[in-house]
Amino acid sequence: MYVPLRPPLLCLVAAVALLALAPGAAQAQDEVPFITTPDNVTLEMLRIADVGPGDHVIDLGSGDGRIVILAARRFNASGLGVEIAPDLVRQSWRNAQTAGVADRVTFREQDLFKTDLSAATVVTMYLLPEVNLQLRPALLALKPGTRIVSHDWDMGDWKPDQTTVVPVPDKQVGLEKTSKVHLWTVPARVQGLWCGAGLLRGTSLQLTQRYQEFEGTLAHRQRNRQLEGRIVGATLRVLGGRAGELVLQADGDELQIAAAGGPLALAQGQLFKRAAAGNCD
Ligand SMILES: C[S@@+](CC[C@H](N)C(=O)[O-])C[C@H]1O[C@@H](n2cnc3c(N)ncnc32)[C@H](O)[C@@H]1O
Repeated sequence: MYVPLRPPLLCLVAAVALLALAPGAAQAQDEVPFITTPDNVTLEMLRIADVGPGDHVIDLGSGDGRIVILAARRFNASGLGVEIAPDLVRQSWRNAQTAGVADRVTFREQDLFKTDLSAATVVTMYLLPEVNLQLRPALLALKPGTRIVSHDWDMGDWKPDQTTVVPVPDKQVGLEKTSKVHLWTVPARVQGLWCGAGLLRGTSLQLTQRYQEFEGTLAHRQRNRQLEGRIVGATLRVLGGRAGELVLQADGDELQIAAAGGPLALAQGQLFKRAAAGNCD
């Protein structure tokens, strides 16, 4: 005999099914409460990311919309806030109207884990350490140069490029009366073998990358030069080389010598291309 499920039970079954489908979202929503970022910390988050009129700021878990609204009001940026709680989304729209920026910001009732981040030039977050870690692969896959700012929580062994500490005398959580603001700039993904073209034909560059740091070997005929350096967005800067300055600019499957001293000075503007078949032959 068919016994229809009563509505509350139906809801429960649907909720359990949803939890099973989206464990990340359920966990984040349960664990990340609505706590606001104080205005001085919001300002520092936008300052450290150097937010300006050309930026599109996405706040993950946007609460009452304050970060995106300040980015638009103070720095003329555009913005998107994604928030799971519908009342907070409605509140955000009201706040944006009051602040006179409703034409430059959008708020969506949406799970942060299902948000397309590709339009962001800046991503802001006040979440939790484990939620940051869950988001890390998606953040590292963003366009090189995208800035990520997190209030208080870091991202494990992906060390921030910069951290500042802001006084928060009436802080609601924890014992410390300060907040940390961490900034990361998404590094270009350059791990692997690169083959010289044009004047660089016969030269190869093998790079090993760990987040914003790289080391590698520049090989020409039988001569090898060991390199190490840092990546800021699409720019790779070789540090401390005795053979002179070397700066490379990454653009997809090409690395261009943007500045060079010593024996490589003549190769300025020349390209390495990503090895297609695991070697440069
Ligand atoms: C600590 S509050 C931060 C609010 C705001 N960003 C700020 O800094 O003032 C975190 C917010 O994330 C929201 N949240 C939690 N899980 C979420 C999810 N899976 N998707 C979207 N928002 C979520 C919560 O409802 C809460 O408003």
